[in-house]
Amino acid sequence: MTPAKGKTAATEEKSKAKAKASPEKPRAAAKGATKRPAGKSSAGGAKAKVKAKKTAAPRKPRKTEPKVREDFTPRIVVFACNWCSYAGADTAGISRIQYSPHFRIIRVMCSGRVHPAFVLRAFELGADGVLVSGCHFGDCHYIFGNERAVEQFEKTKALLKILGLEEGRIRLEWISAAEGVKFGRVIDEFVEQVRALGPSTLAPPGRELPREAEAFADAAALAK
Ligand code: FES
Repeated sequence: MTPAKGKTAATEEKSKAKAKASPEKPRAAAKGATKRPAGKSSAGGAKAKVKAKKTAAPRKPRKTEPKVREDFTPRIVVFACNWCSYAGADTAGISRIQYSPHFRIIRVMCSGRVHPAFVLRAFELGADGVLVSGCHFGDCHYIFGNERAVEQFEKTKALLKILGLEEGRIRLEWISAAEGVKFGRVIDEFVEQVRALGPSTLAPPGRELPREAEAFADAAALAK
């Protein structure tokens, strides 16, 4: 097999000599591509360009950002459990915490008592949003009442979806008797959230009576 070895050595020498005579040009140059700065790949350059574009472009306002309707006063119904959240509302009052007055509170013995039908009835009567509030987990007077409230709330959400109402019109919160500040904050947040959604489509027609007129009608009825 020695002649074969000799052959291969000869061909190697030939190819080496060829390489010396005509050094290989870089591929890009051969194809006529433009020169890039050393150490930067094409992918890296593209990435940098995209990054620069991203940083240079002015931030467009997000379409999902809710537009607050200042001309609309939402009507909120709050179902508050007797042992924690209702007492929390009391604490807010005693502490003279300032918060939105656009809600009516209904006391229930436990948040687990709030059946989806209660919420739907509130919407039927003209509520724009419904807040269900109870004790923190572990504090429920009836042990598992607030866990039941979570189940009921999920069912209510599904029903609202069927009726074509936005999910943001209902809210579930845990507020203790000592959390007067939290009660005020939650009410303020929820009022603004519902204000952004606008009036409920389930509200009966003609309920856009000004609050002053409503109060006047109530006073007139009492005077009779
Ligand atoms: S007693 Fe408050 S949630 Fe049950």
